[in-house]
Amino acid sequence: MQVLFAPLQGYTTGIYRKAHAEIFGGVDAYYAPFLRVENGRPREKDLRDIDDDHNLIAGAKTVPQIIANSVDEFKVLADAIVQKGFTEIDFNMGCPFPMQVSRHRGAGLLSDTQTVKAIMDEIARLTANGSVKFSVKMRLGQGSPDEAFALLPILNDAPLAHITLHPRLGKQQYKGAIDFTAFVRFYEECRHPLVYNGDITSVGQIRKMESGYPKLAGIMIGRGLLARPSLAAEYKAAADASTISERDLLGKILTMHGRLYEHARSTYQGDSQILSHIKSFWEYLEPSIPKKAFKKIKKAGNLGEYDAAVQSLDME
Ligand SMILES: Cc1cc2nc3c(=O)[nH]c(=O)nc-3n(C[C@H](O)[C@H](O)[C@H](O)COP(=O)(O)O)c2cc1C
Repeated sequence: MQVLFAPLQGYTTGIYRKAHAEIFGGVDAYYAPFLRVENGRPREKDLRDIDDDHNLIAGAKTVPQIIANSVDEFKVLADAIVQKGFTEIDFNMGCPFPMQVSRHRGAGLLSDTQTVKAIMDEIARLTANGSVKFSVKMRLGQGSPDEAFALLPILNDAPLAHITLHPRLGKQQYKGAIDFTAFVRFYEECRHPLVYNGDITSVGQIRKMESGYPKLAGIMIGRGLLARPSLAAEYKAAADASTISERDLLGKILTMHGRLYEHARSTYQGDSQILSHIKSFWEYLEPSIPKKAFKKIKKAGNLGEYDAAVQSLDME
């Protein structure tokens, strides 16, 4: 099965994706956090973030993602990405952030079959000459799974490369139970290759999904990969290969951190700005590093304290 790195705004930045591809690998495609319209134009900061991704190491591609509340927004964003030379684009119909949902974007679009149909028609137009492919990343609904099932005939008829389903509702955000009953129904009724996304944190869980749902085209992992960046490579390793040792995992985490830290220090100014950017690297890593060092890193108030905290990790 393909392993896809989920987009996480503020975490899986361009520099993170590149460093991860080079140091850990195992990921077939990195999905970039969504690009959106700001003042009628694609947001510059989001565009810059995907600029370097043509240089990702061989075998790992980046798929930019867009979020839109209308065909007009969709066109502006898709055009900007195509102009950059990307041949695959993901469309977000799952973001639960209230700022997006209230503007009728992400999960806020799932109940609007008319707009989704218009966007699917635009996808059909853009894909007609075969130069670009589209996929959709979605939830079951904002308020009810009925929303996804009302949309499914429209999605089934659209020329999509695949659908990624996170079987939660927008109103649940990222917590609460995953609706496996609805997932299984969607799995059975979806005519496109289906990718599962949600709460995957171990190789065992990936294998369980693989054997339980043989038609699955892939698994998309977000927080599980942030917490254990070796997860995709461990799954891809031959079945008899031993998993990475904790020492090697820590060593690679530190190498990756070195790259991101260097980038943060050359990009941002002043301790607090640099710290606020680099600390997000550690946020989900708690399960993979010693507790004491994790706490020290979190508490560090200036670069001196921070450096000492990271060094204490190296000495463990
Ligand atoms: C902080 C944060 C930012 C996210 N940003 C995006 C995003 O830009 N686009 C998107 O499709 N999903 C986004 N997601 C959702 C993730 O891609 C993923 O669907 C979700 O975390 C569930 O998968 P996981 O349990 O493997 O993490 C975000 C999630 C979090 C927690």
